[in-house]
Amino acid sequence: MKRLTGKCALITGAARGIGFEFARAYIAEGAQVAIADINITRARASAAELGEACIAIEMDVTRQESIEAGVCEAVERLGQIDILINNAALFTAAPIVEITREDYARVFDINVGGTLFTLQAVARHMIERGIRGRIINMASQAGRRGEALVAVYCATKAAVISLTQSAGLDLIRHGINVNAIAPGVVDGEHWDGVDAFFAKYEGKAPGQKKREVSAAVPFGRMGRAEDLSGMAVFLASAEAEYIVAQTYNVDGGQWMS
Ligand SMILES: NC(=O)c1ccc[n+]([C@@H]2O[C@H](COP(=O)([O-])OP(=O)(O)OC[C@H]3O[C@@H](n4cnc5c(N)ncnc54)[C@H](O)[C@@H]3O)[C@@H](O)[C@H]2O)c1
Repeated sequence: MKRLTGKCALITGAARGIGFEFARAYIAEGAQVAIADINITRARASAAELGEACIAIEMDVTRQESIEAGVCEAVERLGQIDILINNAALFTAAPIVEITREDYARVFDINVGGTLFTLQAVARHMIERGIRGRIINMASQAGRRGEALVAVYCATKAAVISLTQSAGLDLIRHGINVNAIAPGVVDGEHWDGVDAFFAKYEGKAPGQKKREVSAAVPFGRMGRAEDLSGMAVFLASAEAEYIVAQTYNVDGGQWMS
């Protein structure tokens, strides 16, 4: 028995990486999925790869009118939204004395503002239709503690954990469960960018940081997007109805809380 049969999901930033893998897992469990991404060309190619149960929607989570238009389009094309995954985010790194206000604003706008206002737009839709929906935010182990070169990204992910708590407590009276997933280090194109930041600031050879963090994971290797899919399906399923405002670590044992 598939666990998400008849459900419709909107996943932001799902043109590639973890969000794309979530789309694949949700479709395998019987859901229809809208990949909502700023990169519409990639989103269309990814949706085509996943077949008829998947559509692509252009959405920039930093622009209110784009969020509203994207949610509207998803509702028109899928019928409704039962599940939202706030997955779109950017990574940035710099020593404290080199952080610029522009980079701070840009990354907070996507990671925190994008999460809050997409969540808000979808929650309004769910409340209006009486949908007992699920919202999953992508946090990170970076939100559990600071890191010397990663102040801004870490702060955005701590904010995502906090928003998950507040929104979870507010929206459960409407039957909407809000929870989050905190991955550790997950291989993919995102990590190529992370590795480049560390090459620059720690003077490491390309790929060196990635090898070091992989070796430090208690499980014995870096995460893969598929390692997170089980939690994403579970939190969207009927089995998770009593789970409210939580952030789950899925990180091979890196952080305990
Ligand atoms: N990869 C990791 O090691 C790791 C670890 C912890 C948490 N996470 C979190 O998991 C989530 C997914 O990570 P990933 O590795 O798949 O990232 P990724 O960089 O591979 O993918 C991010 C996607 O977001 C899209 N995007 C960027 N800006 C956008 C915007 N303004 N509006 C809409 N879409 C936008 C990009 O086009 C891209 O498709 C993120 O929230 C990330 O912070 C990742």
